[in-house]
Amino acid sequence: MFHEIARDDIYRIETPRLWLRWPKVSDAPHLTRHLSNREIADMTARIPHPYPPGAAEHYIFDMRKNNVAGQGLGLVITPNAKPNEVIGGVGLRRIEHSEDVELGYWLGLPFWGRGYATEAVSTLLQAVFGFGFSGNIIASVRTNNPASRRVLERNGFAHTHDSSPFMPARGAPHPVHWFQLDRVEWLARQVAAEWDGHRQSAEYAVT
Ligand SMILES: CC(C)(COP(=O)(O)OP(=O)(O)OC[C@H]1O[C@@H](n2cnc3c(N)ncnc32)[C@H](O)[C@@H]1OP(=O)(O)O)[C@@H](O)C(=O)NCCC(=O)NCCS
Repeated sequence: MFHEIARDDIYRIETPRLWLRWPKVSDAPHLTRHLSNREIADMTARIPHPYPPGAAEHYIFDMRKNNVAGQGLGLVITPNAKPNEVIGGVGLRRIEHSEDVELGYWLGLPFWGRGYATEAVSTLLQAVFGFGFSGNIIASVRTNNPASRRVLERNGFAHTHDSSPFMPARGAPHPVHWFQLDRVEWLARQVAAEWDGHRQSAEYAVT
């Protein structure tokens, strides 16, 4: 499902400000610190609150296992100048009995509002679609999470429907908006962005 190259733990993606890399055991203290925040956990289906001892190690092991099996691509986010300091996570996970994958992401509280989630998601999409993934990427956001909705919209996701799925770590159903992006739509956006770039440089050249 994901390219062979991403199944090795030396795989990483660099953005202008960030690294997206495989998680390692030594990331557990950073993960525990960030994921212990209720503001983060509450917006997700699977991050428990309070965050129990051992949960970060389980999270790391689970992502690594899925990455090796090609069933997902789960990466932690670090500043590119401090690759040992985890500030967030972003990943795709195969949906059972489907060719589609589900996107998830979070950022540590002190790092909100700097465009990091948008940058990380955009780069992951580039890597995955760029390597030829041809399924749909879906994502859900709680209806009280406009920042996450914005991250998806800025990356070209389209709203498809609403529902109230059971969220295991929340212990109850919650209303969510569902979003989707496919390869054709993603490619169309890349072409449009490229043309826009050409147009702007042409305008710049004649003024
Ligand atoms: C959602 C989350 C990942 C966003 O991370 P971030 O790095 O702060 O996001 P960005 O800075 O890239 O973008 C946030 C966008 O939301 C907008 N935004 C932030 N708060 C908002 C609000 N209350 N209402 C509307 N828009 C809001 C920002 O202006 C920005 O949009 P812009 O770039 O067009 O200005 C982060 O808040 C988080 O980790 N939340 C908890 C976990 C979570 O929700 N995960 C996603 C589960 S679906």
